[in-house]
Amino acid sequence: MAASSATLHEDPALLGPGAIDRHRATVSIMEELEAADWYDQRALATEDPELQAILTYNRDEEKEHAAMLLEWLRRHDGALSNHLKTYLFKDGPIHAPGSAKSDPVADGSLAIGSLRGDAS
Ligand SMILES: [Fe+2]
Repeated sequence: MAASSATLHEDPALLGPGAIDRHRATVSIMEELEAADWYDQRALATEDPELQAILTYNRDEEKEHAAMLLEWLRRHDGALSNHLKTYLFKDGPIHAPGSAKSDPVADGSLAIGSLRGDAS
């Protein structure tokens, strides 16, 4: 098995090239975000300002790489695209997109009774 498919969970012959490319993009996004996290921690920990500047620059470059990959994956995954359209770049509570005025968890209106349809 090639290194690029080492983390596949099924026989590549059964997946098809589209699924394998989506897997490549998914794994790459994970790697880019992990690298950004590592750079972030190292930048915060160092006391050398020049090293901190380099690490911060590198951290943000990794975020750009992750963003490009996410956009590629969005263009090749309709369900993901729909979820991103629903949740990204919106105001208000994340769990209730489009309802910027109320947060049912924070204001207590989302209680067990409300889920059962109780009038209480
Ligand atoms: Fe990168």
